[in-house]
Amino acid sequence: MPRPSDAAEIMQRLGELAACTETRGEITRLFLTPAHAQAISLVCGWMQQAGLSTRLDASGTLVGILPGPSQDAPVLLIGSHIDTVRNAGRYDGCLGIITAITLAARARTLSLPYAIEIRAFGDEEGVRFPVTLTGAHATAGNFNQTWLAARDHNDITLATALANFGLNPQALAENTCAAHRAFAYLEIHIEQGPVLEAANIPLGVVTAISGAARFEVTVTGRAGHAGTVPMSQRQDALTAAAAMILAIRDIARARPNVVATVGRLTVAPDATNVIPGTCQFTIDLRAPEDALRHQAEHAITAALHAVAHADNVALALRQTHEAAAVTCDPRLQTILAAAIEKSGLPIRHLPSGAGHDAMAIASLCPVGMLFVRCAGGVSHHPDESVMESDVEAALHVMTQTLQSLTPTDFAPGNPPA
Ligand code: GLV
Ligand code: MN
Ligand code: MN
Repeated sequence: MPRPSDAAEIMQRLGELAACTETRGEITRLFLTPAHAQAISLVCGWMQQAGLSTRLDASGTLVGILPGPSQDAPVLLIGSHIDTVRNAGRYDGCLGIITAITLAARARTLSLPYAIEIRAFGDEEGVRFPVTLTGAHATAGNFNQTWLAARDHNDITLATALANFGLNPQALAENTCAAHRAFAYLEIHIEQGPVLEAANIPLGVVTAISGAARFEVTVTGRAGHAGTVPMSQRQDALTAAAAMILAIRDIARARPNVVATVGRLTVAPDATNVIPGTCQFTIDLRAPEDALRHQAEHAITAALHAVAHADNVALALRQTHEAAAVTCDPRLQTILAAAIEKSGLPIRHLPSGAGHDAMAIASLCPVGMLFVRCAGGVSHHPDESVMESDVEAALHVMTQTLQSLTPTDFAPGNPPA
């Protein structure tokens, strides 16, 4: 049998990786679960096949290393994530890692003046714990020790989950990263939106990533008998939460480019004939400009307090995540755009509404992102899809990009023009 093309092999591997799941029949791979361990082992094998040495860092990030010309050679980081949302597609995050492995295999023949480290982060989605981007923050040397106390739905702390995974949570106190030699970070990612497809363009250069904040809201009323408590005397936590959620929607709708989502809600005692006594829900708030997001956050806080007052319920609002909006490095944008042009493809610059590991890495070194066209703009959904020919184009453009990168152009004393 002839060897499949590189792009075909990437598509095949993405199919195999999709089988690492907690739930049969869907792709659900949360941070530090057995499915995550299975994915690490599979990806690690492919990294080793590509000639990379591998290690798992203290945050559960799988690192694949292609040495440079000397021990202290500058390092190009290429990363993305291998965790997923619940019932996910197979490309979000994984496309960037699997493509990077093939790219690193190609790079072995290119005599590049730098080393390459692929970082397969384990917690970009922030679905299991109410913290997110923990692997990328650890790489950037910004892991916050208080996050170790974050608890998942089974009341397991992040510290315990790391220890159960065979990792040492205390090691996260140190800067886990050899990344002090990192001169740049690149990430290949499915667009997760409809812009490239609408323009009939396979690849895009990301200009900036929207900032995001996440909150946990607890509404506490009074549980009671559904048949006996008059409507005027109720302290129904769920109806108050419903009014709050609609207020959040209206606040986002009134502000161009602001998006707000309530994606998780729990009700207690959770019985047909009991007035809800407690309701907890999450808020995910994003905007391309931080000032805009902060304004929306203030409006939401005021609206939630007003509803709580009117409905005679208590309100607790806790922020669990914040990532500032990030501008992609102009030099990396130029290099990616030149590589796209050299490949004979049209150039399209676009911002990212979705969050990415690059946001956390931006405090460490300049970041650049290449988007791959996404069928129907569908993502965080099993129907997520990319075309093999677009993956081929991404590989080609990234190979060109690797050859165009000169680490000294990114030296600290050499800021973007
Ligand atoms: C990750 O996909 C996010 O944007 O939440
Ligand atoms: Mn992603
Ligand atoms: Mn995602």
